[in-house]
Amino acid sequence: MIKNSNKRKSDHIDIVLNKDVNHKKTTGLENIELNYCSLPEIDLDDVNISTEFLGKSLSAPIIISGMVGGIEKAKNINKRIAVSAQNVGIGMGLGSQRSMLKDSKLKSTYIVKDVAPDILLIGNIGIIQLKKYELETIEKMIEDVQADALAIHINAAQEAIQPEGDTNFSDCISIIDEISRELSKPVYVKEVGNGISYEVAKELAKTKIKAIDVQGVGGTSWTAIEGIRGDFEIGKTFWDFGIPTAISIYSCRKAFKGKIIASGGIRTGLDIVKSIILGADLGGFATPIIKIDNFGGVKEIEKFLNRIIREIKISCYLLGCKNIKELKNITPIITGETKKWIEEIELF
Ligand SMILES: Cc1cc2nc3c(=O)[nH]c(=O)nc-3n(C[C@H](O)[C@H](O)[C@H](O)COP(=O)(O)O)c2cc1C
Repeated sequence: MIKNSNKRKSDHIDIVLNKDVNHKKTTGLENIELNYCSLPEIDLDDVNISTEFLGKSLSAPIIISGMVGGIEKAKNINKRIAVSAQNVGIGMGLGSQRSMLKDSKLKSTYIVKDVAPDILLIGNIGIIQLKKYELETIEKMIEDVQADALAIHINAAQEAIQPEGDTNFSDCISIIDEISRELSKPVYVKEVGNGISYEVAKELAKTKIKAIDVQGVGGTSWTAIEGIRGDFEIGKTFWDFGIPTAISIYSCRKAFKGKIIASGGIRTGLDIVKSIILGADLGGFATPIIKIDNFGGVKEIEKFLNRIIREIKISCYLLGCKNIKELKNITPIITGETKKWIEEIELF
């Protein structure tokens, strides 16, 4: 069983690094236009994009989404990502901690606080696994890696295409509700690339989760990845299934008052700024980080993150905003397909 799970994790990394598994559909953020302010009346050097998330301050509204753990090569990947996050001052997620629940020796592949003591570190477990364990086991799983919060991934579409997938998604909301009330650390829910709808966000809003990480369509397609590992034709049918990131941000903001992470196909600082204007609080990246790590490690990840930070600051300046709070007051101009979809959501 552990062997299968290790093989799966290893396949995932290999496929992401070597194949084009991006959605063909876009995030919808290309339909968000911003009203350029040609006289911003501020100095770009005065723009401050620091923010707060789950009790920790971040130098910029950026989270590296949870990816790896449980296999030997994950150990160094996690450490390199963590050192970059520490140096830049942002948050980071771990990959699913399922493997360490099954084999405690694998705990070491998730340990990063020794090299990145100050980062906001987010633990990770799938809703399907969560159902199988007692609260104390999950508390210990989080404590063992010194995580500051827990992300529960909900991935019904991925599990349906995954050759060894578990598709019993009954009673998930009550489990999320229970853990959000009882775990000693903050809990949030994340998708993996198919997005979260208004209706689901409304149900999640009845729990005590602190955030929703939308992980919408427009970036890495996990149905495509599982199709490559299993039945390619089914993977192809569902390659683009789901809710584009821009729509998911808008839907979740309408239904949910907590923090929202914009993710799934976020590739620039301008994407993060558009997402914040649409209702998000932070932006998240997965595939770009593991790809950059693969060719350049810490140095290149930091270069990429610093570019994203610069792009966020330039965007704020070009909109006449000194900080994230001011950015939230900007009204987006929504066009094209994104506008049509949002008009439908407005009828709900
Ligand atoms: C190699 C890799 C492994 C991943 N493993 C996990 C995981 O264990 N748990 C999880 O919640 N998401 C996992 N993800 C999904 C990402 O967190 C993210 O939801 C998804 O890739 C979409 O973001 P992107 O378009 O920026 O890649 C993984 C992503 C990658 C690239």
